[in-house]
This record gives sequence, C-alpha cells and structure tokens, in this order.
Amino acid sequence: MNLQDQLPQLIAQHQDQAGALLPLLHAVQDALGYVPAEAVPAIAKALNLSRAEVHGVLSYYHFFRSMPPGRHVVQICRAEACQACGGDALLAEAEQLLACKLHETRADGAVTLEPVYCLGLCASSPAMQIDGQLLGRVDGVRLAQVLASLELTP
Ligand code: FES
Repeated sequence: MNLQDQLPQLIAQHQDQAGALLPLLHAVQDALGYVPAEAVPAIAKALNLSRAEVHGVLSYYHFFRSMPPGRHVVQICRAEACQACGGDALLAEAEQLLACKLHETRADGAVTLEPVYCLGLCASSPAMQIDGQLLGRVDGVRLAQVLASLELTP
C-alpha cells in the first residue's frame, strides 16, 4: 500500500469526526506501518491544523513511527512495574539476541525493537509484545525461545 492511494481515503473517513487527529494518525500507521513525513501537510490541511501541531502530536506519542518498521516488531515494556521486575535485563537480553538496539531496525530489515509504555500486563511483569502478541513473565530463556521460533536470532 502506498501513501498516495491510502491517505485521501483515510482522511475522508476521519476528517469530520471530533478529535480526528489521533484516530487518523492511528489509521495511517495501521495502513502503512508508520506515519510518513510526507503525510503531514495533507493531514494538517484536512484538519485545519498547522504542520507543527501535527508534528507535535507525532513526536509526543512514542507509538507513532516515522520510518517503516522491520518485518517483525518486538516491543519491550519500559513502564514502572516491568522495570521493577526485570525489564532492564529483558531489554538488554533482547538487544543482544536480536543484534539490534532499542529504537532501531536491524540492517536486514527483519526486526524493529521498540519501547512500549504499559501493555496492561503489569501483574505479569516483565511484559513484551511481538507483532501484536502479548507475552508476560518473560525471562531470558523464554525470550530466546520465542525469538528463535520466529528466526529472529542471527
Ligand atoms: S508496566 Fe509493563 S505491562 Fe504495565
């Protein structure tokens, strides 16, 4: 899917709803995997906002990507409950196993490693999500198994 094909339709679907900016940005990211910088002028114009306002929202919410993600997206919870229960160690393990730093996409395009701020699994910390699948109480062994099953460990 490309921006030119998708954006006018997505704008038309959301333009008239109250507080349209966030739902529209979510829809763009759902369709394309990220919110391209080239989409900002059209979104701003359609919603009668400045480009700076749209950029402000995009940079405020960690959820929105400015670049296409890898084929798999691994998200490690960085919020308090998970940090208190081994989240830092889990992140370090993920970076090592994936050979990929947080906020980056591996050079082969196979995986993007992202932070996420609470997945609603605080009672099962530390938590993570891979391609939308939630995992709780993840230790190094389980992490290695899951990543290997997706052929994400080089
Ligand atoms: S703090 Fe990690 S799931 Fe809530």
